[in-house]
Amino acid sequence: MNPKTFLKSAQSGKYAIGAFNFSTAEVLKAIVAAAKELNSPIIVATSENEGEFFGMPEAAALVGAWRHGTKLPIILNLDHGKSLESIKKAVEAGYNAVHFDGTSLDYEENILQTKAMVDYVRRIEKDYSQEIIIEGELGYLRGSSSVHQEALKIKQEDLTSPGQAKDFVERTGVDSLAIVIGNAHGVFAKGEERLDLGRLAEIKETLGEKVFLVLHGGSGIPEEDIKKAIELGIVKINVNTELRVAYKEGLEEELKEKPQETTPYKILALSFDAVKKVVKEKIKLFGSDNKI
Ligand code: 13P
Repeated sequence: MNPKTFLKSAQSGKYAIGAFNFSTAEVLKAIVAAAKELNSPIIVATSENEGEFFGMPEAAALVGAWRHGTKLPIILNLDHGKSLESIKKAVEAGYNAVHFDGTSLDYEENILQTKAMVDYVRRIEKDYSQEIIIEGELGYLRGSSSVHQEALKIKQEDLTSPGQAKDFVERTGVDSLAIVIGNAHGVFAKGEERLDLGRLAEIKETLGEKVFLVLHGGSGIPEEDIKKAIELGIVKINVNTELRVAYKEGLEEELKEKPQETTPYKILALSFDAVKKVVKEKIKLFGSDNKI
């Protein structure tokens, strides 16, 4: 499987591929089931902590089994890798895509470290004749993948600068770039997550088709903003919190309705359906249905 082909098709076809996080087998199964029903390419992702809980080699093995069983192009992505050590762990486990998040570093150090990740990934690609997507990140992405009671306040200086984005891509050679344009991790009870579409248009104008543009924090953004962002060139959208909320609410309902139930797959049935429903809605919103 050549994972970059799928992002290239999304770029030319003006749709986006969802990158959905999982940390348990039934969430992965629900994501895959949604993609299968809608005939959609899909990216499944683990953060460092999610991968630690599941086991990266185990995640790769299970995704391999799903790929084989469904014939779907399922890309396995490390989300927000913070060190060469965790990028290596994912690549060695068999992940097809890695995201290096160097945004806690200053700009020059982010470039330096991202470039080191790109060099490592290119070496592996050559040695094993296997494509691996490497994603860098620029800008300050606030929040975490949970429900926040406080208001979201994004500052102008958090946003990705088009000039820096061009310099960053040229000097690191990343395949994909995660940008900050008003997005944040999580769902916010107060203060809407609105995208600065003008900023996105400027970034796209500067970078052209050189790089795949990625939007993190896909939960809680109004649908009209998502649609416009895709029109303007976003090709990968990361979603986690909305799946977590659906999972938790399904579980709470099941436990409340049938407090005596002890069979895990029965306890998890509503969670499974709820996660699958959210993924199907996102696939349709992103326009990746029937793209295989
Ligand atoms: P949300 O939790 O806001 O959906 O963001 C997920 C994400 O960006 C993972 O990297």
